[in-house]
Amino acid sequence: MKYVVFLCALLSSVISQAQTLTGRSPDGSIRITTDISANGELSYTVTYKGRAVILPSALYIQLKEPAVALANFSLEKADSSATDNTWKPVWGEYASIRDQHRELRLSLLDRGGSGIHINVVFRVFNEGVGFRYEFPQQKALNHFVVSGEGTQFRMAGDHTAFWIPGDYDTNEYPYNHTRLSAVNAAIGKTFTSISTKTLFDSNAVQTPLMMKSDDGLYINLHEAALVNYPAMNLVVDKSSNTLQAHLVPDAVGNRAYLQAPATTPWRTIIVSDDARQIIASNRMILNLNEPPAMKSTSWIKPQKFVGVWWEMHVGISSWDYAATQSGSALVPHGHHGANTANVKRYIDFAARNGIHGVLVEGWNVGWEDWFGKWKEDVFDFVTPYPDYDINELQRYAKAKGVQLIMHHETSGSATNYERRMDSAFRFMKNHGMDAVKTGYVGYIIPRGEHHDGQWMVNHYRRVAEKAAGYHIMVDAHEPVRPTGLQRTFPNWMASEAARGNEFNAWSEGNPPAHETILPFTRLMGGPMDYTPGIFEIKMSHYDPAKTNQVHTTLAKQLALYVTMYSPLQMAADLPQNYDARPDAFRFIRDVAVDWDDTKVLAAEPGEFLAIARKAKASPSWFLGAITNEDARTMQATLSFLPRGKRYVATIYADAPGAHWQTNPMAYLITKKLVDSNTTLDLVLAPGGGAAVSLVPATVADIRNLTH
Ligand code: NOJ
Ligand code: CA
Repeated sequence: MKYVVFLCALLSSVISQAQTLTGRSPDGSIRITTDISANGELSYTVTYKGRAVILPSALYIQLKEPAVALANFSLEKADSSATDNTWKPVWGEYASIRDQHRELRLSLLDRGGSGIHINVVFRVFNEGVGFRYEFPQQKALNHFVVSGEGTQFRMAGDHTAFWIPGDYDTNEYPYNHTRLSAVNAAIGKTFTSISTKTLFDSNAVQTPLMMKSDDGLYINLHEAALVNYPAMNLVVDKSSNTLQAHLVPDAVGNRAYLQAPATTPWRTIIVSDDARQIIASNRMILNLNEPPAMKSTSWIKPQKFVGVWWEMHVGISSWDYAATQSGSALVPHGHHGANTANVKRYIDFAARNGIHGVLVEGWNVGWEDWFGKWKEDVFDFVTPYPDYDINELQRYAKAKGVQLIMHHETSGSATNYERRMDSAFRFMKNHGMDAVKTGYVGYIIPRGEHHDGQWMVNHYRRVAEKAAGYHIMVDAHEPVRPTGLQRTFPNWMASEAARGNEFNAWSEGNPPAHETILPFTRLMGGPMDYTPGIFEIKMSHYDPAKTNQVHTTLAKQLALYVTMYSPLQMAADLPQNYDARPDAFRFIRDVAVDWDDTKVLAAEPGEFLAIARKAKASPSWFLGAITNEDARTMQATLSFLPRGKRYVATIYADAPGAHWQTNPMAYLITKKLVDSNTTLDLVLAPGGGAAVSLVPATVADIRNLTH
């Protein structure tokens, strides 16, 4: 339903010829103003409840071919419309999502004489604003090259920000928390990364960028529907608190190759005076993406999985099979993780615990010499190592009701992967597999391209589309950061695209605040394969010489199944570590991976977070609460439960004396009867958390727990 409602041409001064248009959100809390100055410059502002969010900020596009700066406009037409509809995601945090917004569409003509038409479209939601550039089909523009975007976000103050460096190739950084004026990406260089770093400017940061003003406004900048375009970094101009778009370049320094009709991604500004609302507003980014591109989606299944994976990261087995370098004969060294007997152990564990998937990394030839070599053809994705009996494992998994998950590490050679994708996906289907974890460690081939540039953005989408053709689900590691495309490609279920739990195994790790920041940053764009569930916290368990450790308590690892949303959720630790603590593992067995509803109960980025979610098509709820390095008691009121219904709460909490560093594995499990009037006092240790399952009480429960 579209109708003209809110456009009002406020000023049209005869003297200056300036033209100002305004629009507001359906609830009136957010206002945008666009202005075209007398000399044709376009700018916009955003306010929230009357407070400045974006001060007048420029909008323009720089083309190289044809060489035109689209910065000097005359307004040909302004249209407005309103939308209010509700849609159902294939899977997600909510059973249905309301898309309610108002749109202001400016049709502009370049006054510089090129004759080029461009539209700038704003959508104003109650949660924030999205805007993009559109290049309609026209005579004056066919194929063209974008060399830069002049999009600015001029903030109303020197806000504090959670940021990672504006690297073209990796987002696997811990977050910095500074004022905008203190952004210095060079400090990120000290952190371990297994990918490649391409830092171009020490004042540049990545999105999603989470900021807070001194007067308590939470502002999140990101983008939605990143398709056929490079990712946007932001360069901070410290003298004016202005964030300026910087598009990731390609191998020859261009930004994007487009053909009209074309659109840029939406630039998104989410704002609230309540931090909880920011997380709930990730739905705005979904609303700015297109509905599913595929008709049938019933084959797409949210699921939990275990994997021959952590044992390599902790160093007790390896991906590679042979001691010799490639080129010579494969001579086994004897500690190859993906051997038939070991994989069967994981299949047995999965079958015993109702876990659907078993990921196997290091199953295929190539790992002897796979990383950082700029080699075009490392893997063929179809040749198992000699000790990996894929046919026997297919039979064994099937007999146990479990499915193997494929691993395609490309070592950055996207060209090789594209050439081999069809045979690789056919091989998977022939061996009973319908999910793949991809990976892009190292420099990208085509050489000179970047993980976050247009070529790779298109590559990830081609993989998702090709996989959909084979009914294959995708979990991409080291891709560009997500922008809500999971709505359009629901088989592209999860991505890593941030610093995951793996860093705790072999680097200085992720600080205790990390998981309280990610939902405000990386997860705004989509699910993350964080690989939670590490029970054996200290790596000295495997090697007394190691000082690495997970920087959380065990109970916090459980809470992450709720706070770190993903429809593909790994139980990342080793079977033996779970078998040693079956009472705590019970939570991982029980917790859902697909949800009808989500309530953010408490949140402050970098500090704490509590989220409750209702399992899809079930009356059960699950609650996760986490803290940074500070101990705290969080009160969780269960008012989301249906009134008058009694539930059994099983609370997996930090035991007294627990501490992420000194005593991380001390947990306590208690049960009690609760209802919608109950407030739980969740006592969180430093670096700790609590996980709660809430299941309708039976008559026997009521009898047993009332005594
Ligand atoms: C990095 C991925 O994040 C990790 O999960 C994987 O095990 C390694 N690459 C090897 O592919
Ligand atoms: Ca990674």
